Amino acid sequence: MTKMRTHTCGELSKNSVGQRVTLCGWADTVRDHGGVIFIDLRDRYGMTQAIFDPRDSQEAWDIAQAVRGEYVVCVEGTVEMRPADMANRKLATGEIEVRCNVIRVLNKSATPPFPLDEMQSQRVSEDLRLTYRYLYLRRKRMQDNLQMRHKVAMAIRTYLDQAGFTEVETPILTKSTPEGARDYLVPSRVVPGTFFALPQAPQQYKQLLMIAGTDRYFQVARCFRDEDLRADRQPEFTQIDMEMSFVTQDDIMAIVDGLVDAFMRASGHGAVQLPIPRMTYREAMDRFGSDKPDLRFGMELTSLNDIFEETGFKVFGKVVADGGVVKAINAKGLANVPIRVVEDWTELAKEAGLAGLAFIRVQEDGTWKSPIVKFFSEAEQAQLRKRLNIEVGDLILFAAHRAEIVNPFLGRLRLLAATMAGAIPEDKFVFTWVTEFPLFEVNDEGRLSSMHHPFTAPFPEDLEKLQTAPLEMRAQAYDIVLNGTELGGGSIRIHDSETQSKMFEALKFSREEISDRFGHLIRALSFGAPPHGGIALGFDRLMMLVTGSESIRDVIAFPKTQKAMDIMMNAPAKVDAKQLRDVYLSLNLPET
Ligand code: AMO
Ligand code: AMP
Repeated sequence: MTKMRTHTCGELSKNSVGQRVTLCGWADTVRDHGGVIFIDLRDRYGMTQAIFDPRDSQEAWDIAQAVRGEYVVCVEGTVEMRPADMANRKLATGEIEVRCNVIRVLNKSATPPFPLDEMQSQRVSEDLRLTYRYLYLRRKRMQDNLQMRHKVAMAIRTYLDQAGFTEVETPILTKSTPEGARDYLVPSRVVPGTFFALPQAPQQYKQLLMIAGTDRYFQVARCFRDEDLRADRQPEFTQIDMEMSFVTQDDIMAIVDGLVDAFMRASGHGAVQLPIPRMTYREAMDRFGSDKPDLRFGMELTSLNDIFEETGFKVFGKVVADGGVVKAINAKGLANVPIRVVEDWTELAKEAGLAGLAFIRVQEDGTWKSPIVKFFSEAEQAQLRKRLNIEVGDLILFAAHRAEIVNPFLGRLRLLAATMAGAIPEDKFVFTWVTEFPLFEVNDEGRLSSMHHPFTAPFPEDLEKLQTAPLEMRAQAYDIVLNGTELGGGSIRIHDSETQSKMFEALKFSREEISDRFGHLIRALSFGAPPHGGIALGFDRLMMLVTGSESIRDVIAFPKTQKAMDIMMNAPAKVDAKQLRDVYLSLNLPET
């Protein structure tokens, strides 16, 4: 195959018996069985057993017995069938072995700081694994993840190419774009006192490409966001970024439907039933208490307002009278959760702003154990039983307050309860679109801010509410959700400069800010911008889900830690005084 080896370690089978072969790889394990040495030779293609008997070659045996784990070796020998009782049917190469009479040590290895074995390496601290990332990446699972990432990226590029998209690279040294996170800044040496920002997304460039007439753009794009990290967030991540001209929401969703089907096939999960179902933001909040509903299981939020309109239970009666909502979920099978769990959940309810968390445990004999049932009439109980399909073993959890409080709280509880009940099937992939997002939300400072970004177009019929009721405006924005994770989001953009200016004004950007930060975009929109829209899918999140990984870090070759550091390269790091002077910076560090 190459000058160094005839085969890889994953290639030989019983069809190769009798062949003289040369293999290269790492010594995975070295065992001495009664004077015969067995080396499991590993590369990214697989594992092959090499066997050294002093009767075949004393010289080779002498070298083999000195080999240690992770030494890099090259062996030569003849492929033989293993004795039937020694065959390992779990391995592709498990029926054969290579009887060797030549071995060369290509490189020694220091003792690895942790065992590379799949199970054991999982137990060492993540910091150690990340410091020696290249060793951790030797594990089959990690190599498989990198392979899969490559395969899926290829499938995505092929699909988009066939759909008429052009991949265009956009700058990394650029200007701040508002995607809601902090920017990573790069000081300029040439223009003192100025900074580039690394792109949080190629949002404005892709819109400018539409104005340029590119028509269908995509990019496997690097994005940088300085934000608090979680299991599904990295400071540096990759988007499948797309933009199209002369399209409606439906066109974009149809293209992405096909893309989803293409990447699910490429990742070995088979075809996806198309079109992917859609629900509005309002419906998602109402039924699942989340704008990224996990539809792998039911346990929907059920409204009980009509049942409690004239109830004797004052807590619920008052909420209904005040225009709030009374809702419940039926956590099937959790009737006997320990009291500690209910207390924890009640604590969450209080943090969410609720006065408490009412519940019913349905006992073996069918009776209800609950602090509130005594307040319910017979008729109310009968209606509840029917509405919530109450059966033996169920735990019913109630929340009553304003909808904005009840829905997200029960949405969280739904996930906790389903996880505890083991009701979430792990091998299912359920996609949904969520549409008609609100255009604005109120941010932490009590100010109006864009829910998606300020380039998102409202529904034309909602535009008149910009001054009077902005929070009621719906955006032509959509998210694609997989198993409760927001995989991607996009929108139809504002394509006339006048509406775009109005939007910035509504968001209370000052005149200077608008011209400083977005002057280029407003100007560009005035030169015949076509109607356009797009979407970006988080590629790392996608790979995390299709490979069944727990963390986004498992599908990125060199990820950052929770503290946004690369502890293998030791970045970020101090720079010397001259480098600082070159960019006109001096440090003003906090006292430690
Ligand atoms: P948005 O900000 O929703 O949209 O990002 C799109 C998708 O990118 C992924 N993502 C992340 N993945 C890993 N780590 C992160 N820190 C991170 N942040 C976001 C998510 C998300 O759904 N320019 C718009 C898209 C558009 O309007 O076309 C944008 O960036 O999966
Ligand atoms: P109280 O009458 O305030 O003692 O409440 C009776 C039961 O109703 C307790 O179990 C509370 O936890 C529960 N409860 C009180 N307020 C709410 C609410 N807003 N939503 C759900 N349950 C509540």
